[in-house]
Amino acid sequence: MSLKDVKHIVLVLSGKGGVGKSSVTTQLALTLSLKGHSVGVLDVDLTGPSIPRFFGIENEKVRQAPGGWIPVPVHEAQNGYGHTDGNGDAAHTNELADGRGSLACMSLGFLLGDRGDAVVWRGPKKTAMVRQFLSDVLWGSLDYLLIDTPPGTSDEHISLVETLLKEATPEQMAGAVIVTTPQAISISDVKKEINFCRKTGVKILGVIENMAGFVCPNCSECTNVFSKGGGQVMAQEFDVPFMGSLPIDPMFIRLIEEGKRPVYPEGTVIDGRAMQTNGHADLDEAEKAGLLVEKYTACSLYPLFDGMVNQLLSKVEP
Ligand SMILES: Nc1ncnc2c1ncn2[C@@H]1O[C@H](COP(=O)(O)OP(=O)(O)O)[C@@H](O)[C@H]1O
Ligand code: SF4
Ligand SMILES: [Mg+2]
Repeated sequence: MSLKDVKHIVLVLSGKGGVGKSSVTTQLALTLSLKGHSVGVLDVDLTGPSIPRFFGIENEKVRQAPGGWIPVPVHEAQNGYGHTDGNGDAAHTNELADGRGSLACMSLGFLLGDRGDAVVWRGPKKTAMVRQFLSDVLWGSLDYLLIDTPPGTSDEHISLVETLLKEATPEQMAGAVIVTTPQAISISDVKKEINFCRKTGVKILGVIENMAGFVCPNCSECTNVFSKGGGQVMAQEFDVPFMGSLPIDPMFIRLIEEGKRPVYPEGTVIDGRAMQTNGHADLDEAEKAGLLVEKYTACSLYPLFDGMVNQLLSKVEP
């Protein structure tokens, strides 16, 4: 049983594609790892398996072992990371003192030669693949398995969740995080997702509103003007926990696409924390040095995820 030693399973859901489901999955994984948890990410979004790209491991291949597939490692566990990292400032050093958990991924993207192949798959083949994904990956022992699901509330979606519920024990199924955007909220796309969870008996851990506001890469003048996306109001209306809003941060995209450590204009403050400024970061090599998980701690979205992951942990491991 591939999920036997997985403690908690969290689904990441959205009613539509392009709202940031994979970005959120990626950042939840990085932040959980930074808190010392061992994490696996399973990408069953067969419509566009983008997890390998987010973790910068697109060219990796999954190895087949006698008992199943071996997930692709992103980084190994490290103890006392906070004490050894010369780049960490004092504030981060404390948080990281417990060390970093391992992170590994499994995605259909690894098994496809050409990304375009995914779209030609039809229903039964997809369901069979999803079942195999759930049962044949050698995760080993994990604190958290995050599952990036296909967008929507279709039959295929329901069958995926049903398959999952069969593979996992009720104790393992922590619940779902729903990702939406200010635009999507208005078309009651979230409502469908909430009904979907209620229908399939999956607990809703919270709703995240993504792309509300903007972190400008040019100056800090209007960066802190977070647009009121209505996420909080919506969550109250549907009686689900609201985890928080995330702005669009071009530095996050740059980190994913170019592997460069995020840097911000002088005076950029996010959630009470001053962001690292441009300083001497024009050297390409210096900007690219380090692991993704280390560079991510400089991203404006990290303090926001840190808060959201604390909320999540308090619900999953009270
Ligand atoms: N908060 C954000 N800041 C900057 N870029 C973002 C943010 N959220 C998502 N993106 C970008 O938007 C695009 C779509 O996001 P993605 O996570 O792939 O959506 P989905 O998985 O829901 O289809 C990606 O290129 C991603 O990097
Ligand atoms: S933060 Fe500065 S550069 Fe960016 S849009 Fe506002 S005024 Fe313009
Ligand atoms: Mg995606």
